[in-house]
Amino acid sequence: MRKIRISVLISGGGTNLQALIDACAQSNFPAQIALVLSNNADAFGLERAKKAGITTKVINHKDYENRESFEDDINEALKEVKTELVCLAGFMRILNASFVNEWKDRMINIHPSLLPSYKGLHTHERALEDGVRFAGCTVHFVRPEMDDGPIIIQAAVPITAEDTTETLAARVLEAEHKIYPEAIKLIAERRIRIRGHRAIIEGMIVTSETIINPILGS
Ligand code: GRF
Repeated sequence: MRKIRISVLISGGGTNLQALIDACAQSNFPAQIALVLSNNADAFGLERAKKAGITTKVINHKDYENRESFEDDINEALKEVKTELVCLAGFMRILNASFVNEWKDRMINIHPSLLPSYKGLHTHERALEDGVRFAGCTVHFVRPEMDDGPIIIQAAVPITAEDTTETLAARVLEAEHKIYPEAIKLIAERRIRIRGHRAIIEGMIVTSETIINPILGS
């Protein structure tokens, strides 16, 4: 089986990265990690990558005068390892439109909310404050606007009356770890067509169950 070459961009703990490392370790998973790149030398995710024998690179934004030159070096690093898909996994830097457009439909992100609700930071606090009944997470193609772009997979996570930011974040994170590898699999298997702002999944039978939670039953 041909495995697509993915590069994962991180800034922190890297639990999503770990989910991707674990998925890629399976012989029947159609992707391999070519590079883990961090803007933060202290990111624990770098340790996870090293432990798995994956090439790592630190490109610290603080070493650059402007965002363009920072992104030029990221671009070069991605191309050097023949990246086919860029996976943002807790990468805490805003990317310029020129960088994003260069990787159009070849760069995805995971966000801890049911987009387009709760773009930006502190998604769980805001959801709890608003009293919404469902939180969740989204894997989407990246567009220049923050947390915008065609949605590949979402998982809904019910909110209970007892939830705190921490308990909710933990359950959403668990769902993130399931849908991120799934999204990469769909892309690697070329099952996604992008039509305008929508990503259409070939052969996906939509039932009420898949609408509520695509990871149920998996
Ligand atoms: C996750 O909540 C992800 O959705 C968001 O940043 C967080 C990264 O967590 N984009 P981790 O570093 O993967 O543990």
